[in-house]
Amino acid sequence: MVQNTPYTYTNGLVNLEEGHISREIFVNEAIYQQEQEQVFTRAWLFVGHESQIPQPGDYFNSCMGEESVILCRDRAGEIHVFLNSCRHRGMKVCRYDAGNTPVFTCPYHGWSFATDGKLVGVPFFKEAYHEQLDKSQWGLIEVAQLYNYKGMIWATWDPTAPPFPEYLGEFSLFLDLCIDAWDGREGCTKVLGGVQKWLIPCNWKFPAENFSGDSYHNISHRSVDMVGIGPGGTGRRDRRELNMSRRLHVSFPERGHQTGVYVLPKDELPPASYQESSIVAEYFRHCEAERHRRKKEWGRLIGSPGEIFPSTALLPRQPRSIAVWHPRGPHQTEVWRWYLVDQDAPQEVQDYLRAYYMRYSGPGGMTEQDDMENWNYAHAASRGTIARRYPYNYAQGLGYEVRDFSYQGLPIPGVVTDLTESKSSEDNLRNFYRRWAAFMDAKSWDELTTWRQGAQSDKGSNLRLAYGNTANGNT
Ligand code: FES
Ligand code: FE
Repeated sequence: MVQNTPYTYTNGLVNLEEGHISREIFVNEAIYQQEQEQVFTRAWLFVGHESQIPQPGDYFNSCMGEESVILCRDRAGEIHVFLNSCRHRGMKVCRYDAGNTPVFTCPYHGWSFATDGKLVGVPFFKEAYHEQLDKSQWGLIEVAQLYNYKGMIWATWDPTAPPFPEYLGEFSLFLDLCIDAWDGREGCTKVLGGVQKWLIPCNWKFPAENFSGDSYHNISHRSVDMVGIGPGGTGRRDRRELNMSRRLHVSFPERGHQTGVYVLPKDELPPASYQESSIVAEYFRHCEAERHRRKKEWGRLIGSPGEIFPSTALLPRQPRSIAVWHPRGPHQTEVWRWYLVDQDAPQEVQDYLRAYYMRYSGPGGMTEQDDMENWNYAHAASRGTIARRYPYNYAQGLGYEVRDFSYQGLPIPGVVTDLTESKSSEDNLRNFYRRWAAFMDAKSWDELTTWRQGAQSDKGSNLRLAYGNTANGNT
């Protein structure tokens, strides 16, 4: 059963049958520490993009949860992710954001590590260590598994975690809307400019649940819509291709990933919305038509924000970007934001998108500021002794999710809520916390996998069907 998960996490702190979640999971120090162990050491986390390290010796200083890690390419061209902590006394061996180096030399006592992680230099190796230090045992700590998904580098510390494609499952359909080129070619994207990084005073799960599909907070962005900073200069929610589509939430209870998506009617080409310059408009018109041709019926999908469990958010429609919510204690989150562009996009398109991304997203972007205001104040107002006695409400749309949804011949995988009529649902948010609770309770990946299989075999059994007892959308 999807709703009646056995994982309610420690005396019902996460109660998904009624849609109540305790504020403690956002503000409690002990729960935060447990979360680091149970979630962040076991899940697959996004580390960076291979376009950030194109040459041997290139590195990018990244994070996995609280851990500082180095994403680098060794002399042979192989990609690695290492813990950025010297094996001698823990000093960061790399303190720059990015660069190129033959070795990482620790600034404390001078041990040096090659870009394949091997310990290659130890001061006074002969005199002080009498050549008895076994250097082969003291290289940099490397992640247990690494996966290059169309240029995105993912990693996990857990050797027992399923391989990344299995962890991702059918959600690849939605990740591809973000990472494939705009004309539908596989991969072929690169990071545009640097990575935006900023701190916000709230728990990391506030942005994670919001990007999972908080379709209820339109009021927060009302001023942005009125200003009309959308790609067409006409606001961002009145674009024709979105108005004529089905608007869905899609979630995968067995994995914890979820997203919004729009589905165009059959044989409908999305009209391009970009009109600021003729080159930009022509580029996107051409790409939309090509994407439709390459992806065939799947070209009818138009991406909307989503979340890969636990902490990687996707924005597959312009602004096309990836966000990671790095926890920095229960009361603070460090946000990192990568912006993507087609590798071979004309300079005019890249310049246009750079300006658009900056005014729309990130710490200075008009839209993101609205969201941060909400998360920061909500967190602060939930920390008090009285406030934390009262749970949040996640009951919206409870029981109205469906399996086996299709729209005009296009079958949508996962669990779906059709928002075209119901306008909003907290189904995707519940899905995020269902998986979070499973991670917090499960002792091993074996247990997480067993639960996943159980969720799959209970396909739709406890779901009340919407729209006159049919699982299909109006066709
Ligand atoms: Fe790195 Fe001592 S801490 S060499
Ligand atoms: Fe928002």
